[in-house]
Amino acid sequence: MSFRIQPTPVARPNRCQLFGPGSRPQIFEKMAASAADVINLDLEDSVAPDDKAQARKNVIEAIGGIDWGNKTLSVRINGLDSGFWYRDVVDLLEQASERLDQIMIPKVGCAADIYAVDALVSSIEQAMGRKKRLGFEVIIESAAGISHVEEIAAASPRLQAMSLGAADFAASMGMQTTGIGGTQENYYMHREGAKYWSDPWHWAQAAIVAACRTHGVLPVDGPFGDFSDDEGFYAQARRSATLGMVGKWAIHPKQVALANEVFTPSEEAVTEAREILAAMEKAKSEGAGATVYKGRLVDIASIKQAEVIVKQAEMIAAQ
Ligand code: COA
Ligand code: MG
Repeated sequence: MSFRIQPTPVARPNRCQLFGPGSRPQIFEKMAASAADVINLDLEDSVAPDDKAQARKNVIEAIGGIDWGNKTLSVRINGLDSGFWYRDVVDLLEQASERLDQIMIPKVGCAADIYAVDALVSSIEQAMGRKKRLGFEVIIESAAGISHVEEIAAASPRLQAMSLGAADFAASMGMQTTGIGGTQENYYMHREGAKYWSDPWHWAQAAIVAACRTHGVLPVDGPFGDFSDDEGFYAQARRSATLGMVGKWAIHPKQVALANEVFTPSEEAVTEAREILAAMEKAKSEGAGATVYKGRLVDIASIKQAEVIVKQAEMIAAQ
């Protein structure tokens, strides 16, 4: 192992991020009452250009006006290629209460994108005497974003989370896909008359997880568009969890419970993790670096895997 210890990401649950358009304030209270760990009020692509100014006002009022409990509260600002983002940042930091935890920067393409927002945010925080330091989260959803994913993950100490945005990503990459996330009809292997579907998002997810784990950022899976397909959502979420992602977006309230279920370690998993830790503790006391648990090898690496599960369970329980 490198002498540089892998940094630990922020210790807060991020199993589900529930989105809602900033132009639809009627649902804000419902979002606050949901079981999502993170709330994303959107100023970007779910808000039409003519509604941007009003959505900004709605969101600023709601940040201070609604009881968001212990949720992480985030606002998705507009992209740096738009004429909206600077006003999003200025108004949020000049007018919104310090209940705001972070902003989500969409379509980031390189570390300089984060630098630009960081400079603006830092200046306004200083000028306004804001005490709470705003966090950042980003969406990787372009060819440039995935090409520069590692420098983006390292771009700012404000950065807490990074999501894959499948729809914009597919468009930027020129992928022939339909639907937001999940299995794609034409991404299959064929053998002896049968089709086997593979996962076109796999490499992008793995690249995001690697960049995030290197720099202490939470890797998150983005939207799954077909909210009437629960099994499809589960399958996508379980693949993401298996690859090391900590949570997934919900673009409809019914997806919150599905994400929470997948990204909360099951009681069996936690019990097994604790038993592995105990078995390794016993092995260590007997001078061994490895032992057998339920007929399989466990060693020092198993301790780390088990600790991830136990830590996650403890963090969720402590909420
Ligand atoms: N958060 C909380 N509650 C929501 C909600 C959300 N994102 N979307 C809908 N609801 C509420 C509705 O108000 C309705 O409440 P009610 O039972 O009290 O009347 C209930 O959930 C069922 O809603 P439904 O009729 O199934 O959906 P809809 O047609 O009102 O809205 C969407 C569907 C997809 C347009 C809406 O969920 C939405 O805007 N999602 C977020 C989109 C977004 O932010 N995209 C950007 C990120 S990709
Ligand atoms: Mg997008």
